[in-house]
Amino acid sequence: MNVGIDQISFHVPNFYVDMVDLANARNVDPNKFLIGIGQEKMAVNPKSQDIITFATNAAKQILTDDDLNKIDLIIVGTESSIDESKAAAVVLHRLLDIQPFARSFEVKEACYAGTAGLQMALNHVRLHPDKKALVIATDIAKYGLNSGGEPTQGAGAVAILVAANPKILVIHEESLALTQDIYDFWRPTNQAYPLVDGPLSNETYIQSFNQVWNTYNQQFNQQISDYQALLFHIPYTKMGKKALQSVLPTADQITQERLLQHYEDSIQYSRQVGNLYTGSLYLGLISLLENSQDLKTTQKIGLFSYGSGAVAEFFTASLVNGYQEHLHHSLHQNLLNERKRLSIEEYEKMFEDSLDVNVDQEFSDTYPYSIQSIHNTIRQYRK
Ligand code: HMG
Repeated sequence: MNVGIDQISFHVPNFYVDMVDLANARNVDPNKFLIGIGQEKMAVNPKSQDIITFATNAAKQILTDDDLNKIDLIIVGTESSIDESKAAAVVLHRLLDIQPFARSFEVKEACYAGTAGLQMALNHVRLHPDKKALVIATDIAKYGLNSGGEPTQGAGAVAILVAANPKILVIHEESLALTQDIYDFWRPTNQAYPLVDGPLSNETYIQSFNQVWNTYNQQFNQQISDYQALLFHIPYTKMGKKALQSVLPTADQITQERLLQHYEDSIQYSRQVGNLYTGSLYLGLISLLENSQDLKTTQKIGLFSYGSGAVAEFFTASLVNGYQEHLHHSLHQNLLNERKRLSIEEYEKMFEDSLDVNVDQEFSDTYPYSIQSIHNTIRQYRK
């Protein structure tokens, strides 16, 4: 039985910083950010918008009444949790009006958590094909003003509906995961920003990709020419390209051109929003599907998921006939185009204006599902 992605959408906050403005403010050559890092814009959220706001907006776009009755599993992958105990999935379950007899929980392993959730959801639906599962990857990537990681920040969510006989993408059961206890990027409890060893994180990312890529292809008898596209976790768009380039010399010319072109299609949205952490690989998937004109249902797509710390996984998928009819291209284009560009002064003010849930307050932000008020440390969302 085929199980996979029946619906998929993303949401980002309605503010961004232009990377040329940021480079100028930081006294850096803009080409370092535009070419060296590969980013044009970076999504930024006000304190009245959080991982629940992004997640609810992303999921609302894809769920029908029938889905709400069939979903019995809601998994949120995040490393920007708003509570040490209560799962964001429980709040989402209410905001989305999903039928009550469901499992709702949150999973964590840096940017890998979305994939952990997706694999659990796929197995759940393989066992219960009459049910559906909702997986949401939602995060705020913040490294601090003037920090080394600042140009690789971002915010937003991807929502994925998993079902039997999916309309968009069949995900194959064969996959290969790799765990290595490495401190390349981590965030001790109660610390606002992650600690990061940039060069080690880049190195571990590529080394992990090479390990799962080589072993997967050996175990499952695949060659690079079998793939029409390779998708990567995208902390910044140059990163995935470096990983891709590490294996391209093993391919013939036509395969190289195809993989490079499809990589470019997959980074169009990430270039405009930055790192979504758990959602980045899946934002790349949406970007590929919505911006490529020559994808085939007969050839595989490979997906590389990476979460610092580190866990990596390589798995494959095949497109379903007519998948184009189930995408949300214009909705996503409008979302990106209608955002407000912040001056660096406004960005820095927004960045430092962090939410204090110990202070009861009301918010005037009318953005859908934004935080309406805080009372007794509890966030109430605008429905
Ligand atoms: P940096 O020290 O600011 O940059 O750190 P750099 O000096 O390494 O330069 C970056 C690139 O820009 C280089 O290209 C330069 O040559 C180039 P490369 O050699 O890499 O190809 N460059 C220029 N290009 C054109 N014109 C110019 C110019 N100047 C320089 N004028 C770093 C960059 C990414 C390390 C930093 O931003 C950082 O620490 N970011 C956060 C960590 C990160 O994103 N790591 C990625 C792998 S780990 C991962 O993906 C997991 C993660 O998502 C977290 C999770 O799992 O939860 C991060």
